[in-house]
Amino acid sequence: MNRIFSGIQPTGNLHLGNYLGAIRNWVALQHDYECIFCIVDLHALTLPQEPDALRHATREVTAAYIAAGIDTEHCIIFNQSMVTAHAELAWLLGCLTPLGWLNRMTQFKEKAGKQRDLAGLGLYAYPVLMAADILAYKATHVPVGEDQKQHLELARDIAGAFNRRYERDFFPLPEPQIFGEATRVMSLRDGTKKMSKSDTSDYSRINMTDDADAIALKIRRAKTDPEPLPETVEALEARPEADNLVGIYAALTNATREAALVQFAGQNFSTFKEALSGVSVDVLGKIGGEMRRLMADPGHIDAILHRGAERAAAIAMPVLDEVKEITGLLRP
Ligand code: AMP
Ligand code: TRP
Repeated sequence: MNRIFSGIQPTGNLHLGNYLGAIRNWVALQHDYECIFCIVDLHALTLPQEPDALRHATREVTAAYIAAGIDTEHCIIFNQSMVTAHAELAWLLGCLTPLGWLNRMTQFKEKAGKQRDLAGLGLYAYPVLMAADILAYKATHVPVGEDQKQHLELARDIAGAFNRRYERDFFPLPEPQIFGEATRVMSLRDGTKKMSKSDTSDYSRINMTDDADAIALKIRRAKTDPEPLPETVEALEARPEADNLVGIYAALTNATREAALVQFAGQNFSTFKEALSGVSVDVLGKIGGEMRRLMADPGHIDAILHRGAERAAAIAMPVLDEVKEITGLLRP
């Protein structure tokens, strides 16, 4: 059976983009694949994290996976640092990764900002660790949002570099799975910026834990333009905020942008926003409530992570052992 690996960083403020771009697609795919869903806590450390907040966010992301409908019997859910193969394989793969490949990564450029000399080695090596996550399980498919496309291409390049260097077909080249009407959800305050966990304005995003009032207020305040909604998808192209809201509505109602416009063409934003609030609360309200219920019992969440880590290690450790063997590391 084909195998899926994907992950989210436990850095707080899980939002609608994480849900529509990633988690929701995992739920839809989970029964057609063997699935491993990770909470990538080592990736979180590439930027400063408070230890207590990191622990809390790790449990919260786990709760979000479960609340959204990931089946913990069928799927493996665990936090990355519990399986040492990730960090070890990252080193081995890093030795095959030319700096030129890493220098092209736009996420590093964005996160490092202007003072690149102050950025940590971890932030720079981030995509190599991501490749190790995927390859440690010989995963064939990786469902993610649009922003991870470049990192996945790098993971494929690294897999190919290993296979060529040691002249064998060891790692499958992982396929990205980027689909749905909301592969890139934008900020509610600026339709040209990605909705992100780290945006300083909470009004820029809908958090998975927001209650109905917060969701409605944020959508009411979301930036729009003065025109009514257009009739065609093409007419949305020059209107990033309108395009974003229509895309969100389409994704939440399992429809296309075209279908959403058939419903709302010619109407003003206040009517549309009310409908959008309604469907957002319908979908996220239940998940948020379930997350809060799960978070009240951290022992239960920890037990799921512990069991998941055992199952994950049983797959990853033998792969790592084979890589060490192939690489020529003596294991007396
Ligand atoms: P991160 O929040 O960076 O850990 O991302 C976790 C997952 O959510 C990845 O698959 C991302 O591609 C996806 N994701 C993050 N932000 C967005 C967004 N604004 N729109 C769609 N997908 C997103
Ligand atoms: N870099 C991903 C993100 O921030 C998270 C991630 C880490 C990931 N390792 C992965 C996603 C492996 C898919 C597969 O969105």
